[in-house]
Amino acid sequence: MTRSEWIQLGYLVAAVCFILALKGLSSPKTARYGNFIGAGGAILAVVVTCFYPNMSNWPLIIGSVVLGTAIGVPAARAVPMTAIPQMVAAFNGVGGAAAALVAVADFRTHSNAGWAVALAVVFSTAVGFISFTGSCITFGKLQEIMTTRPVLVPGGRFISFGLLAALVVLVGVVIGTGSVPALAALAVVGLIFGVMLVLPVGGADMAIVISLLNSFTGLAVAASGAVLRNTLLIVAGTLVGASGALLTHLMSQAMGRSIGNIMFGAFTSKAVTAGAGAASDRSVRTGTVDDIAILLAYSRKVVVVPGYGLAVAQAQHTVRELADLLESKGVEVSYAIHPVAGRMPGHMNVLLAEANVPYEQLKEMDEVNPEFARTDVVVVVGANDVVNPAAREDASSPIYGMPILDVDAAQHVVFLKRSMRPGFAGIENELLFGDKTTMLFGDAKDTLTKLVGAVKSA
Ligand code: TAP
Repeated sequence: MTRSEWIQLGYLVAAVCFILALKGLSSPKTARYGNFIGAGGAILAVVVTCFYPNMSNWPLIIGSVVLGTAIGVPAARAVPMTAIPQMVAAFNGVGGAAAALVAVADFRTHSNAGWAVALAVVFSTAVGFISFTGSCITFGKLQEIMTTRPVLVPGGRFISFGLLAALVVLVGVVIGTGSVPALAALAVVGLIFGVMLVLPVGGADMAIVISLLNSFTGLAVAASGAVLRNTLLIVAGTLVGASGALLTHLMSQAMGRSIGNIMFGAFTSKAVTAGAGAASDRSVRTGTVDDIAILLAYSRKVVVVPGYGLAVAQAQHTVRELADLLESKGVEVSYAIHPVAGRMPGHMNVLLAEANVPYEQLKEMDEVNPEFARTDVVVVVGANDVVNPAAREDASSPIYGMPILDVDAAQHVVFLKRSMRPGFAGIENELLFGDKTTMLFGDAKDTLTKLVGAVKSA
C-alpha cells in the first residue's frame, strides 16, 4: 500500500471511531466508552495527518499541540459540572474560528479551483465566524459575565437583516471575482452577525443556542474539509453538524418552542421592563425546618423537583438521604425530572445517579405531571424556571410555551433556595408568592441536612 492509502485507511478508522463514539454517547451507561473512543479517533487523525507528504512547519504544529494540551486538559479537569455548557460554548467557538481561518488561509491556494471550492470557502468563513462570536456571547451569558436576559439593540431587526443581505452579496462577489478584500469583509460581517444573532436570545434558551452553534461549527468544518479535500474533516464535520441539528430539534421540542421563535422571538416580543426579575419587595410565606419536617413526615406522597441549585449546592446525596428517611416512614417519594432542569441535557439524571437514587423513583415530566394533583408536598430543590407558571399563563413571558412541571397542582409547595433571586431566565416566579407555597431560605445542602435531622425526630 502507498503512504497515501495508509493515510486514507487511518482516516477511515478514525471516522468509524467517531460514529461509534456517537453511538456510545447516546446512553449514560456507555458514554465514557464513547468519549474514549472518540478521543482515540481524534488522536489517530492528528497522528495520521503528520505523515502527509511535504508536511512542514513542525515547530508551529508541535507548539500548537503542546499549547492546546496545556490549556485544554487542566481546563476540562477543573471545570465543575455546572459549568460544562460554558466550556462547550468556548470550545465550540474556537472550533468555528479554526474552520473559518483554515478556509481563509487556503483561499489563495485554491482561488482558481472553481466555484464549488469558492462556495465551500465562503460558507466556512461566514458560518465559522458567526459560530465564533455567537459562541463568545453564549459563553458570556452562561457564565453570567453579561446579562442572561434578551438584549435588544435599537433597530436590531433591521441591522440583522442588513447584515444578512450584506453576507449574501459578499458571497456572490467572492465567488464571482475571487476578491480577497471581499472575503475579509465577509469575515467581519460574519463576526458582527454572530453577535447580533445571539444577543436577543434569553438565558433560558441558551442550551438550544449552543447546540445550534455546534451544528454550525460542524458544517463549517465539513466545508473546510471540502476546501482541503480532506475526507475525514468532511465526515467529522457532517457528524457534528447532523447531531447538533438533531439535538437542537429535540431540545426545542422538549421546550415546546420552534427554533425561529427562540432565535427571533425577542425581535417581535416586547422589551422586558427594567427591574423585572430583580428581587421583589412583595412578601412571601417562610417556614421553619421543624414545620416542614412535620409536614413531610405526615405526608402520603412527596415529589422532589431538583434544579440547577441542587447541582450548585452538591446536595444530591443529602436529598437522597431525606427521601430514604421519608420512605422508611411510609411516605411515597419520587423525583420529577424536567428535560431542561439544570444547565445541560440530562443534568439531573447524572446528579441523582451519582447519589444512586433508584431509577424507578425518577419520573419524566409527562409521566409525573398528572400525579401532582394527588401529591401532598412538592419539595423544589434549587429549581425555578422549570416550575414557573408564567410559561403556561403569560404570553409576554420569555419562557411562554415551555412545558413545565405543574407543581402548583399539589397541596403544598416548599421551595429550597437562598433568596428571592430569579432563575436562569431572569424572570419572577409568581408561584413563590402563592397561597400553597412555603419558602425555606438557605443553601440547599444546609437546609436538607437540617431537614434530615428534624424528620428523624419528628
Ligand atoms: P433555574 O431556573 O436557573 O433556578 C435555579 C435556582 O436555584 C435559582 O432560583 C437559585 O435561587 C437556586 N440556587 C442556586 N444555588 C443554590 C444553592 N446553593 N442552594 C439553593 N438554591 C440555589 O434552574 P432550573 O429550574 O433548573 O431551570 C434551568 C434553567 O436553565 C432553564 O431556564 C433552562 O432553560 C436553562 N438552561 C438549561 C439548560 C439545560 S439543557 N438543562 C442549559 C442552559 C440553560 P437563589 O439564587 O435564590 O438560591
